[in-house]
Order: sequence, then C-alpha cells, then structure tokens
Amino acid sequence: MSPFLTQDGSHSIFAEQYGVTYHSRYGAITESLHVFIDAGLRFQAALKSELNILEVGFGTGLNALLTWVEAEKRNLSIRYTGIEAYPLPLETVETLNYGEQIAPTVGSAPDFMYLHQCPWDRNMKLSGHFSLHKKRIRLEAFRTSQVFDLIYFDAFAPQAQPELWTERIMRLMYKTLGPDGCLVTYCAKGDVKRTLKSVGFEVERLAGPPGKREMTRAWK
Ligand SMILES: C[S@@+](CC[C@H](N)C(=O)[O-])C[C@H]1O[C@@H](n2cnc3c(N)ncnc32)[C@H](O)[C@@H]1O
Repeated sequence: MSPFLTQDGSHSIFAEQYGVTYHSRYGAITESLHVFIDAGLRFQAALKSELNILEVGFGTGLNALLTWVEAEKRNLSIRYTGIEAYPLPLETVETLNYGEQIAPTVGSAPDFMYLHQCPWDRNMKLSGHFSLHKKRIRLEAFRTSQVFDLIYFDAFAPQAQPELWTERIMRLMYKTLGPDGCLVTYCAKGDVKRTLKSVGFEVERLAGPPGKREMTRAWK
C-alpha cells in the first residue's frame, strides 16, 4: 500500500483489495474538510461544545486529525470513537504527509503520529479537548450503548463493500445517534439515501466536494 498525491497535495492510499482509494483523487484533505468537518462537525459544534463522534473506517486517521484540530481551535470537548477492521501498518502511516500539511494548532498538538501510536481498544485522552477510542472491530460486529451526536460514515463505496451500507447497518447507526444527531457521508447514491430513509432518517442532499456533485447528511 503506497500513498499517492491527490490534487490538493495531500496523500491518499489505494486499497488493492477493494480496488478503491481511501479518499477523493481531487484532494484528500479537501474532501475530508468538506464532507466531515464543514457539513458535520462545524454544523453540530454550532449547537453544542461537547460532542460524541463515531467514525466508521478510521483508516489513515485524517478525519480524526482534522477533528482534533477543530476541537483545539474552537475549545470543544470531543470524544471520538473510530472503528477500523484493518488498521494500516505504522510504516505506511509514517509516509503520509498530513502532519506537514496540517500544522499543529498549539505547540506540537494535534500530533498526527500520536493518533496511530496510541493503543487500540482503550479510551485515550490526547489533550484537554480530544479523547480517542480506536476500536479494532468489523462494523458488522460493532455494538454499543454509547449515544453519538455525529457519525462520519466513511466506509469504502457501496460498489466495493455493499455489506456496510445495508438496512441493518443503517438501523444500527440510527439507533446509536441521540436526538438531533446526524450522519454525514460522501456517498450520494440513490439506493443509500433510500435505505437511510427506510430506517427513519431525514435525508438532506448537499453540494459535494470537488469532483462530486452531491453528498449526504441524514438526521435522526
Ligand atoms: C474510505 S476508507 C476510510 C478513510 C478514513 N476515514 C481516512 O480518513 O483515512 C474505509 C476504511 O474502512 C475500513 N474497513 C473496511 N471494511 C471494514 C469493516 N468491515 N469494518 C470496519 N472498517 C472497515 C478500511 O480498512 C478503511 O480504513
């Protein structure tokens, strides 16, 4: 798995097993900021400063890093849970340029490599504003009694992994959200939106990041 440069100068990775990339070729950081930070985090942070976030597909940790940056900048208190079935090897993560592209907000924090070096399956307080719990588990087996305000649904596309976009999974996502919680995803496929609606979500179509006409935000 070797990183390649996307059009905004940030790295992404090609997943050979699924034949897809971890991020948009038009810009990994640009896409993450647009879909997860702007349409998800900044939106919810306008309503409350303590947020419980669930990410499906922790991957390179880019969404977690950008979220940590926002937490420091905006004095938020974020508890971040990242689900990942196939953690990337540290040697691969070390070659990614996110640490250089996203300057630390205060001193050396947020620290990109620290997101990866900290242990799995433990709740870790990485700063006064950001705690991380990386769960090494398949989404299909994930169960929780936690209530989330926001879900970053960043699984590989439905064509590559249809088993992660099913009614059963979306019902689970719906159940884990609290009142006024929402799920954001880069995916705007009609089938996915229909599935989200069928389990009770109110679905919003938003303009997508470069290279994509639309993205989706779904409300409980
Ligand atoms: C689109 S990538 C995620 C990108 C990531 N959010 C980032 O910023 O780098 C999808 C991720 O889902 C993970 N994944 C694949 N199958 C999974 C499963 N069944 N359960 C949980 N994670 C899975 C992959 O290993 C990959 O890291």
